[in-house]
Amino acid sequence: MSTLVLLSHPHLDRSKTQVRLFDAVRGLPGVEARHLESLYPDGRIDVASEQAAAERAARIVFQFPFFWYSTPPMLKAWQDEVLAFGWAYGPGGTHLHGKTLQVVLSTGGPQATYQPDGYNRFEVSELLRPLEAMAALTGMKFAEPMVLWGVANIPDFAVSGDKALAIDEFAAAYRALLAS
Ligand SMILES: Cc1cc2nc3c(=O)[nH]c(=O)nc-3n(C[C@H](O)[C@H](O)[C@H](O)COP(=O)(O)O)c2cc1C
Repeated sequence: MSTLVLLSHPHLDRSKTQVRLFDAVRGLPGVEARHLESLYPDGRIDVASEQAAAERAARIVFQFPFFWYSTPPMLKAWQDEVLAFGWAYGPGGTHLHGKTLQVVLSTGGPQATYQPDGYNRFEVSELLRPLEAMAALTGMKFAEPMVLWGVANIPDFAVSGDKALAIDEFAAAYRALLAS
C-alpha cells in the first residue's frame, strides 16, 4: 500500500526514539517519508506539495512524540493548512476519501499512567479523539494507533537495555506494518 509518513519532531537531532522509528521505515518500497520540520525550517508549509503527496498515498501516517497530550505544533499546522475547505472537506473536499490515517506515537509516560486513576488521567484513545474526528470529517479510516509507551527523552541518559529493545521491537513492527 502506498504510504506517506509525516514525521513531526522539532529536534530530531536530539531524538532517541522517533529518529530510530523514522530510519526503520524510510526507504521502504512504496513509502514516502517526510520530516516536516526539515522540509519547512521556517514553518512555511508548501500546501500544494503536501496535498499532492497526500493524494499519492493510500495511507497517511502521523508519526510524532506526544507533546502535551497532542501532536507537536508543526503537525497541527499541517492540518490547519493542508486540510483545506473544498479539498479535504466541504463541497468538492473529497481528496482524502477512502484513505487510511495511521497514528504512530511515542509517550514519555508508561501505559499504566494513561488510565482514569493514573497520573495522566485519560486513555490515549480518548486523547487522540481530535485526530479520529479529523479522519472522520475528511473521509479517512482511522486505524488502530500504534503507541510506544514510556520513552521519556531524558538528557544525558542513554537509551539502553530493555528500553532499547522495546524501541527496536516497535520499529520492527512499524516496518512490518508499512511493508504490508
Ligand atoms: C514539550 C514536551 C511535551 C511532552 N508531553 C508529553 C505528554 O503529554 N505525554 C507524555 O507521555 N510524554 C510527553 N513528553 C515526552 C515525549 O513524548 C517523549 O520524550 C518522546 O516521545 C521521546 O521521543 P524522542 O526521543 O524521539 O524525542 C513530552 C516531551 C516534550 C519535550
